[in-house]
Amino acid sequence: MSSSSSRLTGFYRLPPAERRRRLLDHTQLSLEGFAALDPGALPIDVADGMIENVIGVYALPFAVAVNFTIDGRDVLVPMAIEEPSVVAAASNAARMARPAGFTSAVSAPVMIGQIQITELADVDASAQALRAHAEALLDDARRLVPRLTERGGGPVGLEVRPLTRSGPDGGVLVVHLLVDCRDAMGANLINTLCEALAGKVAALAGGRVGLRILSNLTDGRTVTVRCSIDDALLASEDAAGADVRAAIAAASRFAELDPYRAATHNKGIMNGVDAVLVATGQDWRAVEAGAHAYAARSGSYGPLAVWRERTGGLDGELVMPMAVGTVGGALHVHPGARLALDLAGAHAADRLAAIAGAAGLATNLAALRALATEGIQRGHMALHARGLARAAGATGELVDRVADELAATGDVKPDRAREVMARLSSPRMVKEGP
Ligand code: MEV
Repeated sequence: MSSSSSRLTGFYRLPPAERRRRLLDHTQLSLEGFAALDPGALPIDVADGMIENVIGVYALPFAVAVNFTIDGRDVLVPMAIEEPSVVAAASNAARMARPAGFTSAVSAPVMIGQIQITELADVDASAQALRAHAEALLDDARRLVPRLTERGGGPVGLEVRPLTRSGPDGGVLVVHLLVDCRDAMGANLINTLCEALAGKVAALAGGRVGLRILSNLTDGRTVTVRCSIDDALLASEDAAGADVRAAIAAASRFAELDPYRAATHNKGIMNGVDAVLVATGQDWRAVEAGAHAYAARSGSYGPLAVWRERTGGLDGELVMPMAVGTVGGALHVHPGARLALDLAGAHAADRLAAIAGAAGLATNLAALRALATEGIQRGHMALHARGLARAAGATGELVDRVADELAATGDVKPDRAREVMARLSSPRMVKEGP
């Protein structure tokens, strides 16, 4: 269930069991519901039914990023990821964006199925024949998915794209079947439709059936997320807000000029996006493939999010394909993924797309702000120090004391953490009298 407020001050300082309890005040989840995230929550026989040759169940930390408001609603953002500092970065950036919040615009959930036809003698004549039968082919497709069509989705368009007139495969064209998948990601649906229609398409074109599969370049299914941050919130310990704003805009321009930087800029975006997708049981490889193909759509690879200065603040905008679903796929069987959707209040694909997009824009902002000011290592090391302090056995206020000492000396290593922990936790020596 969606939260009443995502502003959970001091959440990061609590132990995991306390964090669960704290979430109860902000969601309609029950304490028992969190068992979906406990070891063993995905039974091995269920896992065995999900993929082949199963020998176990792989675990990742599952966390909640706080402070997000998206389209006027507070959201607890579920994240499953192995990399330290992503969740903290997302939460910090969401706090900066909180006054105006993130806003989203999600396109209709239209996916593309490709039917490739080869060995054509006259590609243009074949294309013309197919275009003339587009409506009839669409009607055939709609008859195959009557329930989806009743729900307002289903096949919505058919496009023909000649690819080559000659070559090893003869003349080649590809038919794009455009399908509104509603709240499903839609891969199975699209592939089934492509396989069912391919014979008729090949006969009409006078060629041979090639591949029949969805395209992961889902440029008809995109999310746009925006945020706007005032200078006062951008300021850091050592830098004025206006300087941070200018440095972030300059970092954005660097990514727009250079594919080598754009790849890293986009990696920072995918830190947030993928963490949400993994937590919510999505096909994150599909979204990754679509994201990078989209980033290169102009012929040169560019950033998925850009930042521009305005008077007194900074505006960010992310646009990317986002093929996600809240029904089907792993969601039938994966208890953690279902809990994640409940936590986020994401019960429709467009809402999940907005949340994943906002997480991506947030992690991008946090990375650029750190890079544009003190560099990422200081924050990273501070978090790493907390992790080492915990691993050395520190709890409660000792976590901060051990971590602070490690960070202050710059020697952030497991041995040193154990040493500091032993010293700080040993009972004070009592001076004995003569
Ligand atoms: C590290 O996971 C992500 C960053 O490299 C992103 C960036 O450089 O923008 C910090």
